[in-house]
Amino acid sequence: MRILLTGAAGGVGARLRKLLPAIYPDLVLSDLKHPDDLSASETFIAADLADLDQVKKAVEGIDGIIHLGGFSVEGPWETILNANIIGTYNLFEAARLAGVKRVVFASSNHVMGFHPRSETIDTEAIIKPDTRYGVSKAFGEALGALYAYKHGIGVLSIRIGNVGEEPLDERRLAIWLKTEDLVSLIRIGLEREGLVYEVVYGMSDNKRAWWDNSRAVALGYKPTGRSEDYAAAILAAAGPKTDPVGDAFQGGPFCTGEFTGDLTKITSA
Ligand SMILES: NC(=O)c1ccc[n+]([C@@H]2O[C@H](COP(=O)([O-])OP(=O)(O)OC[C@H]3O[C@@H](n4cnc5c(N)ncnc54)[C@H](O)[C@@H]3O)[C@@H](O)[C@H]2O)c1
Repeated sequence: MRILLTGAAGGVGARLRKLLPAIYPDLVLSDLKHPDDLSASETFIAADLADLDQVKKAVEGIDGIIHLGGFSVEGPWETILNANIIGTYNLFEAARLAGVKRVVFASSNHVMGFHPRSETIDTEAIIKPDTRYGVSKAFGEALGALYAYKHGIGVLSIRIGNVGEEPLDERRLAIWLKTEDLVSLIRIGLEREGLVYEVVYGMSDNKRAWWDNSRAVALGYKPTGRSEDYAAAILAAAGPKTDPVGDAFQGGPFCTGEFTGDLTKITSA
């Protein structure tokens, strides 16, 4: 399969560039900006996701797309609109026009950020985004379902928690995703026979998880990272809790930013 990786110059892109070529030797990288450390063996096409013609060129001859490109945190509406709303629309539209068979969409836990930490949610739970960024990821998931059912592209939306070599703090004990486990999920999205449209949580084997990832397991996911192995050290180093909004909800500080709501009301809802 000829695979396109968008957002290849970003943090997750850099991690995947180390692991994907062994699985998908015919890998094409794309981003708005050129990766600093591009090697001679890598193929790179610069494309602004907000420009359909540029995206069409990047998608030419591609069988499957791993769509990481976009603005990856909360930002001004214009930024989110161009990179994530228009950008993801252009990506799916270019994929349809080029006959791409599979798209793996890097969604985010921030689609569900205002679910309380006391709740365990599966992928049937209603969306409660915590930011304009989270809303844009919900839009991307919705586009995925549209292009899957209407146009026959197999789509996997991965609600990524936090990708890294190890969980970095208490919240991330619940949401950590080892890079190798992300690769396993990506392979399900690109390769699993008969896949139509699926949503999974992008987390490793996390004892403190807030998510029921049984749909991913049913699709063949066998995570290898165990966040609990890091728990004792992280909890010993943790300071006092100082963020009543962020500490109550799964989205953490993304819930706190710009918060003007009624905490008592929403925590008892
Ligand atoms: N890092 C995580 O743990 C995490 C968690 C949840 C979701 N995600 C999602 O996974 C993806 C990758 O995350 P990341 O941490 O590597 O983000 P990042 O910000 O490091 O990388 C995103 C890349 O997208 C590119 N980009 C931005 N706007 C673009 C545009 N208009 N056209 C083309 N490229 C554009 C940027 O240049 C950047 O290289 C993002 O979609 C992010 O929302 C990541």
